[in-house]
Amino acid sequence: MKTSKFPSLRSQVLFLEDLPGIKKISLVLGFEPEQIVVIYDKKLYAHPNVKAWLKKFPLSYGVRAGEKLKDIDYFPLHLKKIMKVMGPSAPQNMCFVSLGGGSLGDFVGFLASIFKRGVPLIHIPTTFLAAMDSAHGGKTALNVGTVKNQVGSFYPATAVLIIQSLLQTLSKKQLQSAAGELMKMGLIKGGELGSALQGQSKEELKWLWDFLPQAIEAKYEVVERDPFETQGERQWLNLGHSLGHILEAHYGLAHGTAVAHGLVFSIQWSFHRGYLKAQDTEDMLHLVREGTGISSPEEFFRQNKKMSLKQMSKYLNQDKKRIDRSHLSFVFLSGWGRPMRRKVTQESFFTEARRQGWISF
Ligand SMILES: NC(=O)c1ccc[n+]([C@@H]2O[C@H](COP(=O)([O-])OP(=O)(O)OC[C@H]3O[C@@H](n4cnc5c(N)ncnc54)[C@H](O)[C@@H]3O)[C@@H](O)[C@H]2O)c1
Repeated sequence: MKTSKFPSLRSQVLFLEDLPGIKKISLVLGFEPEQIVVIYDKKLYAHPNVKAWLKKFPLSYGVRAGEKLKDIDYFPLHLKKIMKVMGPSAPQNMCFVSLGGGSLGDFVGFLASIFKRGVPLIHIPTTFLAAMDSAHGGKTALNVGTVKNQVGSFYPATAVLIIQSLLQTLSKKQLQSAAGELMKMGLIKGGELGSALQGQSKEELKWLWDFLPQAIEAKYEVVERDPFETQGERQWLNLGHSLGHILEAHYGLAHGTAVAHGLVFSIQWSFHRGYLKAQDTEDMLHLVREGTGISSPEEFFRQNKKMSLKQMSKYLNQDKKRIDRSHLSFVFLSGWGRPMRRKVTQESFFTEARRQGWISF
C-alpha cells in the first residue's frame, strides 16, 4: 500500500446504538453541551429520541435538508441566523455538531471550516449515505446555482458518531440510495468486501448496518492514498458519478440511486472498451442491480422521458470531472478492486450514453 505524505483526513469513528445521554455527552463528544452548537435536520424532530436529545443543548439551529441548503446564495442568511442563536458572542472553545444527512454534513462542514477561521466539527450522520460516505474524508461543499459542490474545503470532523437508532427511520428510497454507494465501495475495494456483498442476502435493513465498518474503512483507504485529490486516486470515488450526477440533476433521483445507474453505465462501458472480462461484467452488473433494485433503462423510460443530447451536454459541462471543453476524466473498472481513470472525449461519453439508451436519438 502506497503511504501518503499528506496529513490524515481520518476522523475518529464511533458506533452507538442510541444518542448519548446527558452524562455521556461530554465524554463521547469531547465538549460540554454549552460549548456545542447543534445544526440539525428539522425532519428529525419527528424522531422520538431526537427532540428530547436536542433539549440538552442550549444552542441549536434547525434547517431543511437538501440541495437548497447547500446553495451559496442562502449561506450568508443561515450564517447570520446561526450567529443570532449564539447571541453576542460564540461559546468559548466551541464546536459544531451536524445532525443529518449528506447535505447537512456538507453545509455544516463548510461552516465549521470558515467560522472563526475553523472550529471543531462532529458529524452525526442520519442517512446511510452520510454514515458510509460523506461524513468521512473531510470534503465540505456548497452549490453555486445548479453547479453542485463548486465551493468547498477539506475539513475532516474530529469525530463521526454513527447511531443505529437514527438510521432506522429511513425510507425504502433512501435505503436504495445507500445501497448504491455501498455497491460502489464493493466494486472499488473488491476483495473480501466485493465477495461478501455478492454472497449477502439483501432482504433486511440490518445488512446495510453490518457492512458500514468495511465500507467506511474502504473509503478511508482511498482517501489516505490521495487526501486532497492531487494524485488522482481519490477520483476513484467518482465511480458511477459522471452519469449519476446527470440523472440526479435531471430526474431528481436520490444521489445513491443515480450513482447505481451510473455504476451500471461504467461497468458496461468498461466491458465495451475491453477493460473488463465478460464474467466480471456479469457478476458486477448482477451485484449492482440486485443489491439496489434499480430498474433497467427500459423500465425507467416507461415512466420518464429520455434526455436530449443538448440537455445531457449542459449537465456534463457543469461537472467537476470535466477536464476541458471536450474532455472529462471518467472512472472505468478493469476488474474487482481495480478502478482506473481515463481521459475521454465528451463525444465518446455521449455515444456510449446513446448506445446504453440514456439519450433520445
Ligand atoms: N462530502 C462528501 O464527500 C460527499 C459524498 C457523497 C455525497 N455528498 C453529498 O451528500 C448529499 C446527499 O446525501 P443524503 O442523501 O444523506 O442527503 P440529505 O441530507 O439531503 O438527506 C436526504 C433526505 O433524507 C432525510 N433524512 C435524513 N435523515 C433521516 C432519517 N434518519 N430518517 C428519515 N429521513 C431522514 C432528509 O430530511 C432528506 O429529505 C448530496 O448533497 C451530496 O452531494 C457528499
